[in-house]
Amino acid sequence: MKAAVLVGFGGVDQLELREVPEPKTGPGEIKVRVVATSVNPIDWKLREGMKRAGLPLELPAILGRDASGEVVEVGSGVTRFRPGARVTGLVMGGYAERVVAKEEAWAEVPEGLGLPDAAALPLVTLTGSELLEEGLAPRPSETILVTGALGSVGRTAVFAAKGRSVRVWAGVRGSQKDAAQALGVDGVVALDDEIDCRRLPILDGIADTVGAPVTERLLDRVRRGGVVASVASDPKGAHERGLEVRHQWAHPDPERLAALVRAVAEGALIIPIAKRFSLAQIREAQQFAEHGAGGKVIVLLAAI
Ligand SMILES: NC(=O)c1ccc[n+]([C@@H]2O[C@H](COP(=O)([O-])OP(=O)(O)OC[C@H]3O[C@@H](n4cnc5c(N)ncnc54)[C@H](OP(=O)(O)O)[C@@H]3O)[C@@H](O)[C@H]2O)c1
Repeated sequence: MKAAVLVGFGGVDQLELREVPEPKTGPGEIKVRVVATSVNPIDWKLREGMKRAGLPLELPAILGRDASGEVVEVGSGVTRFRPGARVTGLVMGGYAERVVAKEEAWAEVPEGLGLPDAAALPLVTLTGSELLEEGLAPRPSETILVTGALGSVGRTAVFAAKGRSVRVWAGVRGSQKDAAQALGVDGVVALDDEIDCRRLPILDGIADTVGAPVTERLLDRVRRGGVVASVASDPKGAHERGLEVRHQWAHPDPERLAALVRAVAEGALIIPIAKRFSLAQIREAQQFAEHGAGGKVIVLLAAI
């Protein structure tokens, strides 16, 4: 099968299109013919070698945390899917024509949603939803801020917050304030404007997708005993102010992913797609995403 393989740490020239052996399906696993994957910030952080200490990567490696496509084989013990099912899932090695992952990584894609667009969803929607519901876990009527609210993870965190009747503020760049009104939030704040940040009410917590130093400048807006939950870099100085810091990592959750995919199919949750590329254009795709695409970058592997 064809795959985009990372052959060394560095720039996009370290990504090469190669013929590699197809992965084997083990017990409890599902093999999918990949129609599309998507680019996530972790892909270029791994490529550059920035994450070598915490997430060691053996080279050559196939990147890609998302894959959508058609089930072609199921391992023993798999009960939820059969060959032919349209699925999207949180995987390792999505930049390839075939991928294998545990049954719990996958969710069905409803007819109303195309497989290419479904490839945008697993990592960012699981991360945003888990950040809000497991990391921050605000109580109804609490007031929270989501930083990077117009990003893919941030949009999902806002969506999850609204589902819990939380008062939610969207933290964005000053240039994005008008666009953020469309999120239907209780307030919008420009994180790059100190005076605007002082308008924030006292917060019960922050769901952070941007990281330090942005969150560090916001800590005095959070009440003592409040929580900063982050999927980016944790803020320094929070403990000294009596705040709790929780770092959140995305993990598979098939029911959660299925509900999020349905929400996107129904138009309740919007994850904008910026551009589509082919696998042969993987270098351009990563470069485009890395320079702020303003939406998800899809990489197509096969005709639907
Ligand atoms: N812990 C985990 O398991 C996990 C999983 C997935 C993702 N993540 C992390 O979550 C973060 C967000 O991912 P994503 O896919 O949502 O990326 P994204 O779609 O690019 O969203 C990031 C958003 O934050 C905004 N932003 C960046 N710097 C900002 C600043 N200084 N002030 C205000 N807004 C700022 C961006 O605006 P611009 O577009 O204008 O830059 C964009 O709207 C990444 O760091 C990613 O690595 C962590």
